[in-house]
Amino acid sequence: MCGIVGYVGFRSATEFLLEGLRRLEYRGYDSAGIAVQKNGEIGIRKRKGRVEELCRLVAANPIDGTSGIGHTRWATHGETTDLNSHPHVGGNGEVVIVHNGVIENYAKLKTHLQTLGYVFRTTTDSEVIAHMICHQWLQQIKLGADPDSSSSCLKAIEASLDKFKGTYGIGVMFREFPNLLIAARVGSPLVIGVGEGEYFLASDASPLVGCTEEIIYLSDNELAVLRPEGMELHHRDTGQRKPSIHVLDQVTNELDLGSYEHYMLKEIFEQPESLENCMRGRIDDDAATAKFGGLDFDPQQLRQVDRVVLTACGTSWHAGLVGEYLLEEFARIPTEVEYASELRYRNPPMTQNTMVFAITQSGETADTLAAMRECQRKGHQSLAICNVVGSTIARESDGGIYLHAGPEIGVASTKAFTSQVTALTLLAIYFGRMRHLSYPAGKRMLNQLREMPSVIERTLKCHEQVQAVADKYHGFDNFLYLGRLYNFPAALEGALKLKEISYIHAEGYPAAEMKHGPIALVDERTPSVFVVPKGGIYPKVMSNLEEVKARRGPVIAIACEGDRRVQEMADDVIYVPDVEEFLQPMVTSVPLQLLAYHIALLRGCNVDRPRNLAKSVTVE
Ligand code: AGP
Repeated sequence: MCGIVGYVGFRSATEFLLEGLRRLEYRGYDSAGIAVQKNGEIGIRKRKGRVEELCRLVAANPIDGTSGIGHTRWATHGETTDLNSHPHVGGNGEVVIVHNGVIENYAKLKTHLQTLGYVFRTTTDSEVIAHMICHQWLQQIKLGADPDSSSSCLKAIEASLDKFKGTYGIGVMFREFPNLLIAARVGSPLVIGVGEGEYFLASDASPLVGCTEEIIYLSDNELAVLRPEGMELHHRDTGQRKPSIHVLDQVTNELDLGSYEHYMLKEIFEQPESLENCMRGRIDDDAATAKFGGLDFDPQQLRQVDRVVLTACGTSWHAGLVGEYLLEEFARIPTEVEYASELRYRNPPMTQNTMVFAITQSGETADTLAAMRECQRKGHQSLAICNVVGSTIARESDGGIYLHAGPEIGVASTKAFTSQVTALTLLAIYFGRMRHLSYPAGKRMLNQLREMPSVIERTLKCHEQVQAVADKYHGFDNFLYLGRLYNFPAALEGALKLKEISYIHAEGYPAAEMKHGPIALVDERTPSVFVVPKGGIYPKVMSNLEEVKARRGPVIAIACEGDRRVQEMADDVIYVPDVEEFLQPMVTSVPLQLLAYHIALLRGCNVDRPRNLAKSVTVE
């Protein structure tokens, strides 16, 4: 889960590479580097730390040319040091590469290359790619390949790829062939931007916004040979293929911070709009149901679905848990939400008519992709609930639902979560209306759902209350997040948000489960965040809250406007609008996102780029 960029053409490669890395920095920010080709030499600048550090290095020691590659790193093998930063050099500088992924058999290959005399300068797995390609290229020349023909480069890369086990998206340059850039992928995404007399390469489309509107998604086992005068695509099994060009329809201002200090805050405040976009065109008032262009099945087929498996990681898994509750309650379909990292290696019994949904913001999460592929291999219809258009999961799934939430840049997922819950709510109504859900019930649910953008707009007014609460509690080092039924996933999500951006230990728990263990943690130094809006089991959650108070635990409650009882019991209350229980996680998660944001800010943490994390986890 690193970000890679590349360029061949006529403009300043350095400018494109640095701007591209800024846009890809969410994928990893342990270090950054570029390699640019000029006058038969490849100049490299790389440094530990953020892309801004690299920009300072380049400003102090400029390089430029019209072809190059760049990388922003999330370390998997080898510490975060200047030396371990990409690009990596093969042989004596004949080859330079950038890599996103993991070469699982690197140790064996490294030993072999060392015995051949190759000197390793880093402790990364990626360096083996550079030396191996160099070795294979020198072999080609030795065997009589024309040293002036770049076909030897392609052959050398193909021969090297045969030796690698693992995942990779790579960009490769050869010192002897200026204006040649070769890319290849297995398991790690790569997109090619097509220009007039120029080509761009990137891990996702964001660096290409503003440069070109024509893009090509590279598939697994494909190589792209890019030169200013043209490109070729080669599939390693089937040979050359004709590129299918997609139109890039993002607009640059979606990537701008506007008046916000951080992407996370911007994205929290975008939720009324992202929910609106998720619902647009998906409500069928006449039939009191939902409709989805991407679920291309006839009603008979859908009626036969007797089990649903939702698979995801992290925040998307939390949305999946809401989905499980919704599908079971309203569609009466037995549903299981599975951690993708477990499901990919588990073998749970699945009926013939089990339908699988992979839930993912990025569409690139390695575990989710692997779990989906495993389900497809077993013959199950596998669909995606995904935000990033054209991502690997979106393309490989058998259909699905796009979230249309717009780019989510902050590493902590916010608007994608509420959009995933919205999509799952529509899905539950859709399946429900094919089964037991009546027309009036479907109508009522849709009308309530339709109100959510304005409800979230009102919810965001709690911002100041949240700031005051954050001010009071930001010094605490342990938190419990407690909720029941639909608010249990919200509690889990609130705890994850706090953990990932403020580095505070936080546990999400079903409120009543707390007494079976975690209650032992309760004392004056462990605040509990109770998600306790009005609903059928409100009195029960209030009893759980009292149990905490009885043990002198500070309580922050997320409660419905006008709830006086909670005010008497809790130390602090954040009020949110009162909505039906099935819609509560969308509402209650908003103050929890803001709480994590403000606590992290007060603790001096980098909210958009928390340590050790990356936006999309494309390694296992
Ligand atoms: C969310 O805040 C996290 N950064 C993380 O848990 C994330 O949700 C998870 O990695 C799954 O990502 P995906 O939705 O892109 O598949």
